[in-house]
Amino acid sequence: MRFTASAPGKLLLLGDHAVVYGHPCLVTAVDIRYRVTVEIIPGDLVEIITPELRARGAARRLPAADTGVAPLRETAFVEAAVAQMFRQYNAYTGLRIQTGGQPLSYGLGSSSAVTAAAVGALNALFALNLPLEEQFRLAYAAVLDVQGKGSGFDVAAAVFGGTLYYVRGGERLEALPVHDLPFVIGYSGAKVGTVNLVTMVEALYQRQPAIVGGMFDLLHQIVDAGKAALLAGDWQAFGDLANLNHGILDSLGVNTLSLSRLIEAARAAGAYGAKLSGAGGGDCMFAIADERAAVGAAITAAGGVVVPFVLNAPGICLEPDHEDEP
Ligand code: PMV
Repeated sequence: MRFTASAPGKLLLLGDHAVVYGHPCLVTAVDIRYRVTVEIIPGDLVEIITPELRARGAARRLPAADTGVAPLRETAFVEAAVAQMFRQYNAYTGLRIQTGGQPLSYGLGSSSAVTAAAVGALNALFALNLPLEEQFRLAYAAVLDVQGKGSGFDVAAAVFGGTLYYVRGGERLEALPVHDLPFVIGYSGAKVGTVNLVTMVEALYQRQPAIVGGMFDLLHQIVDAGKAALLAGDWQAFGDLANLNHGILDSLGVNTLSLSRLIEAARAAGAYGAKLSGAGGGDCMFAIADERAAVGAAITAAGGVVVPFVLNAPGICLEPDHEDEP
């Protein structure tokens, strides 16, 4: 029997980087979904196939007991999720695992989505009936196994979906009842890597603890005010807060010229506010706007790619499986 689960990507709205240090953030799930299909196969080999790996003619096959040990870069998150599930429930078996989804994720959280979908699919395959909180815990542990760092905001969005007020490790996880989010997402190009940027900000924090600590406290205030604005649908206020948040990220040194171009273009086209989203160094910005088409056109004219996915998307979903199309 095969099981397929899918999970969404994420857009970090407010609180970027400060969330790593125990401050809250706001995140919304983005409907760029990643799928993972799992089935038990005879023997004790785990076979992981990803579309990207398959294009290069490669797949990862390894004994079940060795999953999570020195994983290949491309399959690391799936493998870490499998290892977590095996270890936790002491069930080791041969598996065939196949992932599906867009090769270009725009930095919107393909790793966390694939990890969450793998946990969701294995939860169904092993008939574990784990609550979402437990699936989050396992998926977050798997992500930490691979990258060693991270607040888990992306995993929370992938598992729970919707729009969340989130504190590291799921210490606080509040689902916010929002509906239409009037945001336009613009992609500025690939970035150098989250872990590098987190490490860079960490080094600055060590050199300037009082000032950077104060900036994180400000981001905390921005997130709390942003939550109220989001719940009230006060987009003017949310736009102000996005601009303030962006200024702090710029001061932390994670802004880029390409992101700036898109952000300035969106503001000039009438957006309430605009900011980079996430670690910085590239990837996406977003703008808050009534005239989304005009702001989108300005982002495109400034060299960005408008990313059309729906926000506030559902979390882990079990998908109907079709034997002929994994
Ligand atoms: O750019 P992303 O999507 O990798 O976001 C990273 C967000 C950080 O706050 C910088 C790190 C984290 O794990 O919260």
